[in-house]
Amino acid sequence: MQRIEMPRFNTIRGMRDFLPKHTERMRYAEGLSRELAGLYGYEEVITPIVESYKLLAAKSGEEMKQRMYTFKDLGGRKVALRPEFTASIARLVAGKMRNEPKPMRLFCMGSLYRYDEPQYGRFREFWQADYELIGSEKPEADAEILTLTNDLMERLGLRNYHFRIGHMGILRGILSQENVEEESQNRLMQLLDKKQRDEALIAARNCNVSEECVGTLKRLFKAKGKEPSRVLRRVKEEVEEYGSAIAAVENLWDILELVRDGGVKFEIVIEAGFARGLEYYTGLIFEPYAPELDIALGGGGRYDKLIELFGGGPTAAVGVAHGIDRLVLAMKKQKISPRIREEKRVVIIPISDELKAKAIELSLMLREAKIPAEAEVMGRTVSRALEDADRKGATHTILVGPDELREDKVSLRDMKKREQRVIEIKNLCEEIEWSMG
Ligand code: HAM
Repeated sequence: MQRIEMPRFNTIRGMRDFLPKHTERMRYAEGLSRELAGLYGYEEVITPIVESYKLLAAKSGEEMKQRMYTFKDLGGRKVALRPEFTASIARLVAGKMRNEPKPMRLFCMGSLYRYDEPQYGRFREFWQADYELIGSEKPEADAEILTLTNDLMERLGLRNYHFRIGHMGILRGILSQENVEEESQNRLMQLLDKKQRDEALIAARNCNVSEECVGTLKRLFKAKGKEPSRVLRRVKEEVEEYGSAIAAVENLWDILELVRDGGVKFEIVIEAGFARGLEYYTGLIFEPYAPELDIALGGGGRYDKLIELFGGGPTAAVGVAHGIDRLVLAMKKQKISPRIREEKRVVIIPISDELKAKAIELSLMLREAKIPAEAEVMGRTVSRALEDADRKGATHTILVGPDELREDKVSLRDMKKREQRVIEIKNLCEEIEWSMG
């Protein structure tokens, strides 16, 4: 074969390989997220990585549109790699699942793609566990999504985290009453999402809102605090001229009261000027944060108009997506090790060439009993093979030798205790199970 000179390849910018240790942590966080979905009754669905650009862009917001991996497929369709799950779920609910009884609880897990500037905790390929509760406009649905998010943080062992909480209905209520068109409202929310409050005030002025309104917005952007009752009372006084903004404040109060009375405890920071980049939110919005990271571990909120936009009937919905990569980073920062059960790991070493087939046969027997087994494949001496088994963290090794085998026995070595015993093959699986407790 002709040898072609190749460069040494690396992953492309923003993309990562996960080596076994990191993969184990990612899978641990994913495992807990999936378990949680089961405990709350969220059924898993799988949606495609490639979707129509138009679907993904419909209400994703300007920033997201700029960051999508977009291309024309060979059929000339404008498509994109999914930057989030919510649009795909809304498409499903508006179409194939439109006649399913409500409420529907759906769960999705997988990789997503955003052409973000790579930096700590911000990647171009990342993973989310996404939970969507469809069909209820009641505050108990919002409360469930908050409770579930808190539950995941607790199960991962995270400490001292807080939830940043707001409500899209407050600012949108004011702006709508001031006749600001939806597109201008969206631009203003994008500025707030980037914490550009002065620019947001200028944008409001440019929409010809009243001077009183500018004053109200200015004060609202500063309304922030840890005590929901105090902050919300203040916000309610501020928006007393704006009917639907008052309703939004009351809705937020109802949600938080349900969570509190349900005995769910987490730290809250209420922010009246909080906005999220995605444009589909209509009610509660929130993001959990750990003190060691100044990036959100997840994000969610209520989006009551999206499913209808995609051709479904009017359908209320609320959901959250947890960033698996960031949860793993937060666990590392807080020095939390995944509580992975100590797994058995057995290496089978034939002590001479004629016994290789016996090693294969024994490895099959162990796997049949759900014991992970690796047979020696490098043709090494027993001592080299034992050294390697030790390095890999094998819990047991089995030495297959001719003398023992004549009596249907092998030597089982407990690698931790450094003890070796001759065991009858028929008792091997039981012995290994038993020695692991
Ligand atoms: P999001 O806030 O865009 O919301 O993303 C949710 C979470 O995904 C973020 O808080 C973060 O943990 C993770 N994430 C986002 N971008 C990146 C990135 N470039 N690198 C690493 N992690 C990232 C949504 O996606 C909504 N669909 C959430 C939702 C579900 N709202 C209602 N239902």
